[in-house]
Formats: sequence, C-alpha cells, structure tokens
Amino acid sequence: MNADDMQKPPRVPATILAAIGALVAGYIFRRMRRAPQTTSDIAPGPPSTAALRLLLPGGPDQITMFRRLQRRYGDVVRFTIGGRTVHLVSDPQDVKYVLQDNNRNYEKGRGLEKAKNLLGEGLLTSEGEQWRRQRRLIQPAFHRQKIATFAAKMTASTEAMLARWEPRAASGEPFDVSEEMMRLTLDIVAKTLFSAALDESEFNTVAQVMRPILQFATRRITSPFDFLDEWPTPANIRHQQRQDKLNEIVYRIIRERRSSAIVHDDLLGMLMAAQDEETGEQMSDRQLRDEVMTIFLAGHETTANLLSFLWALLSRQVAVRRQLVQEVDDVLEGRVPIVEDLAQLRITNLVIQETLRLYPPAWIIGRRTLEEDRIGGYRIPSQSGVLISPFIIHRHPGFWQNPEGFDPWRFTGEREQQRPRYAFLPFGGGPRLCIGNTFALTEAALVVAMVSQQYELNLVPGRPVETEAAFTLRPKNGVWVTLHARQ
Ligand code: HEM
Repeated sequence: MNADDMQKPPRVPATILAAIGALVAGYIFRRMRRAPQTTSDIAPGPPSTAALRLLLPGGPDQITMFRRLQRRYGDVVRFTIGGRTVHLVSDPQDVKYVLQDNNRNYEKGRGLEKAKNLLGEGLLTSEGEQWRRQRRLIQPAFHRQKIATFAAKMTASTEAMLARWEPRAASGEPFDVSEEMMRLTLDIVAKTLFSAALDESEFNTVAQVMRPILQFATRRITSPFDFLDEWPTPANIRHQQRQDKLNEIVYRIIRERRSSAIVHDDLLGMLMAAQDEETGEQMSDRQLRDEVMTIFLAGHETTANLLSFLWALLSRQVAVRRQLVQEVDDVLEGRVPIVEDLAQLRITNLVIQETLRLYPPAWIIGRRTLEEDRIGGYRIPSQSGVLISPFIIHRHPGFWQNPEGFDPWRFTGEREQQRPRYAFLPFGGGPRLCIGNTFALTEAALVVAMVSQQYELNLVPGRPVETEAAFTLRPKNGVWVTLHARQ
C-alpha cells in the first residue's frame, strides 16, 4: 500500500450511498414539514445556561457579553437571565418602534422598579398616568430658556473647582479627574436645585453618602437575588441610614420653603410652583422628595462620566485638542462663557457628541412588554424584557464608519443626515427622552470651555482608562491626569 492508498477511504457501494442520501433527505424534509410555522418567530440566541455563565464572576462584563451576543446572533437576540426572557434589540428602526412608535406597550424594566426604594415615584421610575402628569409638571423647568438661567451657577461652580486646582497644577501631582467631575456635577445639580439652601457641611454630607448610595443601588439593581433586598443585612441597614440622611436634608429644605413667602428661582422653586394645567394640583412633599432625589441622582453621575471620558479622549487626541482650544480662545477671548457663546463652540460640541457616542453614560435602556409584540419579525412574549444598548448601537458597523475610531466630524451636516435617528441615542428617545439633555449638554460645554481656557489635562502613563458597565458606564479606576497650565 502506498501513501496515496492510505489516504483513500474504503470504497462504498453506490447503492448504499444512495440509500443514505435518501434517508438524510427524507429526514430533513420531514423536519421541515413538522417544524411549527412559529419556529422562525423565535429570535436566535444562546441556550440560557450559556448566557448565565457569561454573567458569573470572572466572566466578561455585561457590555462584552451583550456585544458578543449581538455579533453572533444579530440585531434581535433572545436569551434568558435568571429565568427571565430578554431580547437585546440593536437595529435603530426596531429601537424607534420600542421607544417611540409603540412606546405604550413598553414600561420601564425590572432594574428601575428596584430603584423605587430610593427614587420613589419620581420621573425616572414612575409609569402611566402618574408619569405623564409629573412630566407635564416638570418639563417647563427644563426648558432651554430656564437652563440658560442656570448657566451662571454652572460657571460659578466650575470657577471654584479651577481655583482648587491651582496647587495641583503647580505641583504637577497626578489626580483622578473623574472624582473632580463627580464633585463638580454634584455641586452644580445641588445649586440649581436648591440655590444656597445647602450649607457647606450639608453639601459634604450629600457628597459623602451619594457615592455609596449609588454603588449600593447599582448592585441591587443588577443582582438577580431580589429576596435579599428585604432582609435586614448590615449592608441594607447602612444603605437605609444613608438614605435617611439624604431624606432629612431634602425634607428640611422643602419644609423651610413651604413656611416662607419667598419664591426661589431654582429647580425646587419651579417644582413647588408648578401647577397641573388640568386639575390645578401641585406636588405633595413626598412627590417633591421623589423628584428631587431623581434629579439629584440622574443629574450628576451621567454628566460626570461624560466629562471624565472626554478628558481621557482629548489627552490622546492632541490635534483635536489644539483645534478645540483655539476655538475656545477665539470665541471667548479669555472671558467666562455664557449660554449665547455655546452655538459658536462648534468643535467643543462635536467632541462632546463623539464622547457620548463612544462612551454613552446610559449604556443600557431597559423595557418590559405589556402585551405580546413583534420586533424585527420576531415574537416578543408579554412581560418579557427588552434591552437597548446605546453602547452597542453607537458602535454598530452597519450604521457607523470606523465605529471604534474617534472622529468628531462624523456629527457634521451631511454625514449626520445619512444615519437613522436612532443610531445615536445617548439620551434615549420617545416620550421618555432624558428630560435633562439640554441641561447636561449646556453644563458639559461650559465646563469643557472653561477648563480648556486654563489647563491641558494629560493622562498619567501606566494608568489605563478602563470602562465599567455598572448602572452607568464609568471609568473603572478613574481617569488619572496631570494638569498643565496654559500660558
Ligand atoms: C450626559 C448626561 C446624561 C445622560 C447620558 C442621560 C441619559 C438618560 C437616558 C438615556 C434617559 C432615558 C432612560 C430610559 O428611557 O429608560 C434619561 C432619563 C432621565 N434623565 Fe438623563 N441623562 C443625562 C443627564 C441628565 C441630567 C443632567 C438630568 C437632570 C438634571 C437628567 C434627568 C433625567 C430624568 C429625570 C430622566 C427620566 C425622564 C422620564 O422618564 O421622563 N439626566 N437620561
């Protein structure tokens, strides 16, 4: 036997081959006939245990897992987590359907329900008529013109931060700018909510309890073990104590406001004065507390994360940074910006958009179906979860050229027109679009312009910026920088 013969399979009679062929064809034919018409209705996805394994400690984080699922199975993926059926939806057309066209069939998901312990029936967590009424009442306080009146508070808080930075610039000592951005955005939201009603020590209390409250709430929201929430574990007790401290401060301010005749020109003042057009009703103390807590929480960490990632990106993109700084100098000529300047800070705004694309702080938006529905041709059972990830959609190669690259100019005129509206959704969409989007964009532009007037922020070598997909997308170990004063 030569080497060629060793490779050859033994000869099989043609009749046997034909018989096997007929059996296989028959089997496939029968399978096709027997297969229920609905099989194609079920979106593709992994077996449940596979999805769960990916979530176990040591496994990839949720963003990585969802990206893998989307790449492997497409724009509608079905899987189960903790016994719940979930669909990850990544086509902008389908996203529009869920958030806008058929939004009445989709309520907030389980995660936000769990946040009710903290946020009560505030805007972020409420549903139906209750939500509609509150949104009607609160919307005017977030009107563009009102936001303009907050701008002075935003720039004052930024000036105070820049003054605090002077010794750091002189010493060249590295620091975590994400901590600074958290403190700044918390200060801004506190001042716009309450003006000067928070004294220094109360502000410090708020700043101290806010971080652990957010961390704890995130753990609770993402944990599949709901039953633990009710147990008097030491962690639950500590969380409650921190929450009580916050409540105490918020209720004190509401009480004082109620007993004084002065009308305050801040967010709380606007919320207290707001009257329902139809019923003439105003908000109760409890509703005010819930909305204040919601705005406090929804209104600072997201913007802080956006700014932190922006500093990291600009430090790597020195050519863009140079252009941005030049623009800021040309437009402002060294003075403190006002809202009217923002339209001219074109590159600043483009960089903010591109940062929101690459690092959307609200990286996941959850919904639950009320009634059975169809998305992208697939059947979505009632009471099942629908997940929409701005992070995945913002990097979807079907809708973005060079999706992983940094290119602020993709947000200019024609290029923007070429994309479906829901390919970019850092603030969500439909009726539940972020109420604070103008607030956040105004704040971010003012802060970026003011910091850039004075400093260059450079990443510290050896301190990589990593993402963590918690409740919001944030830099895992902070963003460590050194400051260089501009001449
Ligand atoms: C870069 C900053 C921000 C981002 C990326 C962001 C993102 C979002 C997103 C995606 C939603 C919709 C969630 C959903 O549909 O389930 C949302 C809702 C909301 N956001 Fe923001 N947000 C930001 C800043 C702010 C600020 C500054 C405030 C307040 C001062 C705020 C207050 C709210 C509130 C109250 C809701 C609930 C609105 C409703 O359901 O009617 N957000 N935000």
